[in-house]
Amino acid sequence: MCGIVGYIGKKDASPVLISGLSKLEYRGYDSAGVAIFNGDKLEIVKRKGRLKNLSDALDAEPVHGNAGIGHTRWATHGEPSDVNSHPHSNADGSICVVHNGIIENYIKLREFLISKGYKFVSETDTEVIPHLLDFFYEGDLLEAVRKVLGEIRGSYAFGIITSKEPDKLIAVRKDSPLIVGLGEGENFIASDIPAVLNYTRDVYLLNDNEIAVLTKDDIKLYTLDGKEIKKEVYHVTWDAEAAEKGGYEHFMMKEIHEQPKVIRDTMASRVMLGEPITLDKIKLTKEEIAGINKIYIVACGTAYHAGLVGKYAIEKLARIPVEIDIASEYRYRDPIIDKNTLVIVVSQSGETADTLAALRESKARGCRVIAVTNVVGSSVSREASDVLYTLAGPEIAVASTKAYITQLVAMYIIALFFAENKGTVSKEEIEKIKTEMLNLPDKAEKVLELKEEVKRHAGEIYKEEDMFFLGRGLDYAVAMEGSLKLKEISYIHSEAYAAGELKHGPIALIEEGTIMITLATQDYLFEKMVSNIKEVKARHAHVIALAFEGNEDIEKTVDSAVFLPRTIDLLAPVLSVIPLQLLSYYISVMKGCDVDKPRNLAKSVTVE
Ligand code: F6R
Repeated sequence: MCGIVGYIGKKDASPVLISGLSKLEYRGYDSAGVAIFNGDKLEIVKRKGRLKNLSDALDAEPVHGNAGIGHTRWATHGEPSDVNSHPHSNADGSICVVHNGIIENYIKLREFLISKGYKFVSETDTEVIPHLLDFFYEGDLLEAVRKVLGEIRGSYAFGIITSKEPDKLIAVRKDSPLIVGLGEGENFIASDIPAVLNYTRDVYLLNDNEIAVLTKDDIKLYTLDGKEIKKEVYHVTWDAEAAEKGGYEHFMMKEIHEQPKVIRDTMASRVMLGEPITLDKIKLTKEEIAGINKIYIVACGTAYHAGLVGKYAIEKLARIPVEIDIASEYRYRDPIIDKNTLVIVVSQSGETADTLAALRESKARGCRVIAVTNVVGSSVSREASDVLYTLAGPEIAVASTKAYITQLVAMYIIALFFAENKGTVSKEEIEKIKTEMLNLPDKAEKVLELKEEVKRHAGEIYKEEDMFFLGRGLDYAVAMEGSLKLKEISYIHSEAYAAGELKHGPIALIEEGTIMITLATQDYLFEKMVSNIKEVKARHAHVIALAFEGNEDIEKTVDSAVFLPRTIDLLAPVLSVIPLQLLSYYISVMKGCDVDKPRNLAKSVTVE
């Protein structure tokens, strides 16, 4: 999704903007641009493609100035092209705008502006904004911005600059992320904190409909109706290093290796032997818990796959019925929910448009909503009734790995919390599960040691065009995640199936050499799974199995197997997903794909 940066201060703005944009590359983009006030006028430079195209252009013809805005665009209205890239400007180039989000009523506004003689050069919705600002401008940019906000509908974060008031940079947000960085004699705006961390650790987290007016020495915050507001400064404690590759070739590999740590971090202070499970600041009385007759888990993509494990864990341990839905479906299908339904939304970024809409819909219908999210200050975290943070740290690779694993841990914590409070599982059993959970980081380290073995398998199959992932029970949920990971970063078509479902149709696709990645970690389903594997072997499929140590017998049935350190069935997904992440990673590298920034994908999907 698009990324915004803005700078006003004493430094040369161009390298500051490029550095900030480079920290937002993870959001996904297809073009980039800047507008810099050169002391006389605003100069715009924008290029389709990678940020390097823009920085090369700026190296060839530098633009010097101390204030500017920059943007990485992920196309929504109009193809990726130089002209559709941001910043966009009014006709004389005196007002420039960068935008993240969608202006829903842009067609009407465009027609109105054309009737007033304005000319459009791009296909974007954004271009109405600089023209509308021009239309309303009477010597006060803030006033013009407020008038424009009164006319537009949609989701947006804007960075706005004008050569008529070059000592000012204006930012505003609604339903799209934006922060303001506080420096000494310089200030910043950005879509996300890593973009400013080279310069400052003090930021304001803007709320919807807040306007920030930055000069180099001052930041003023206003409501839409012009009232000044005071806000607490949020001091960022995590390290800028954390957002860098830390010695690995790709962010994805670094993040896969961070998993033992983030599993541990996410459990810390919540899962302790002999102590009740805590959900941080979330207060749910015994009566409130008894009043919950249904839980709904709503999420998208990988977060949805974590939710599938959550459904299984909550139903098994807490005996509360759990429905699970994809957020883009849930929001339009009139779900049966009321004040007795607890809704859990799961979102790494906390900015996914569909998940946010599902959250709002649930709240509007009287549900309490718990957000499981990774980003402090994200929209989801601010709008939910309660938040349980997954402590994965910034996830940069577009394909989610460490955030997923912390979402799994969060699901187990929630399930145990309800089980403990409802008394649906004995104290001994809860302690046993907690003990196994606390062993997961060490076991995850052991799984990472299997990477050379997984790489060998990747080498055998990376030229394939189709693969299947099979599992039963929780293994099926992990198979779905493994299949998604492979599609995303290696562009190989794959399907995940509940192994027992195969003979109801998809088995027709199996022929000599078809690659089947089969998961067989669930003890109570092991025999059934082996029978399913035999069915595909009989059709001459090539089968690679994932199983626990101690089940080496499976090697008699399959072509090859990877053995994981044993844990209880319930927690197996935390370990079994790791080889699947590694497999996708190596296949992607072997195929020469862009591992961290796969084509057509965005890290944070802030449009519907
Ligand atoms: C897959 C992936 C996506 C996200 C999905 C939801 O690797 O990252 O499927 O899981 O777009 O994103 P969040 O969790 O930010 O709501």
